[in-house]
Amino acid sequence: KRIVILISGRGSNMCSILDAIAAGELPANVAAVIANRPEAAGLETARARGIPVRLVDHRHYADRAAFDAALAETIDAFAPDLVVLAGFMRILTSDFVQRYRGRMLNIHPSLLPLFTGLHTHRRALEAGVRVHGCTVHFVTPELDHGPIVIQAAVPVLDGDDEPALASRVLAQEHVIYPLAIRWFVEGRLHLLDGKVKLDLPQ
Ligand code: GRF
Repeated sequence: KRIVILISGRGSNMCSILDAIAAGELPANVAAVIANRPEAAGLETARARGIPVRLVDHRHYADRAAFDAALAETIDAFAPDLVVLAGFMRILTSDFVQRYRGRMLNIHPSLLPLFTGLHTHRRALEAGVRVHGCTVHFVTPELDHGPIVIQAAVPVLDGDDEPALASRVLAQEHVIYPLAIRWFVEGRLHLLDGKVKLDLPQ
């Protein structure tokens, strides 16, 4: 199966996917990595690993619709089975999301439905929760609200600051995202009537 990964920054989730493929744990081919910012460090990482990279710079487009149209055209040139948002920090139009319905995943650094949006680790610390984590979900038009595929929880420890908590969560992101993608490419994960359907061996 062919996947396209969309990034905006460092690309550590992208790397965890490439590593899982290299380790033989994920039967997929990353057809391309696409970034919306030229300074996304993950672009260079992907290029160094021999993955085709593309830049669709959102600042070059008049509005979201124009950007999303260019992004869709770039994605579709690679004919992916799955679109993977990995730290892709752009709100997507409903048209764009509909186009990839049931074949676009996102990872969000909180236990959804808690803490949608930005600064999730800071907000978790402010709220005083004792458990935090990350969520892989199908993408739907409402930001961070799509059907949940898998979550991982971590403890919030006394003395945690934002970076400490973020890195504990990130380590789990790197576990659950390749796993969810594996389920999808193995044909065991579907979105059916707006609900997640997962066929796992008993
Ligand atoms: C991750 O925490 C992801 O969940 C969030 O942004 C971060 C991206 O990190 N949306 P990276 O670019 O994958 O290293």
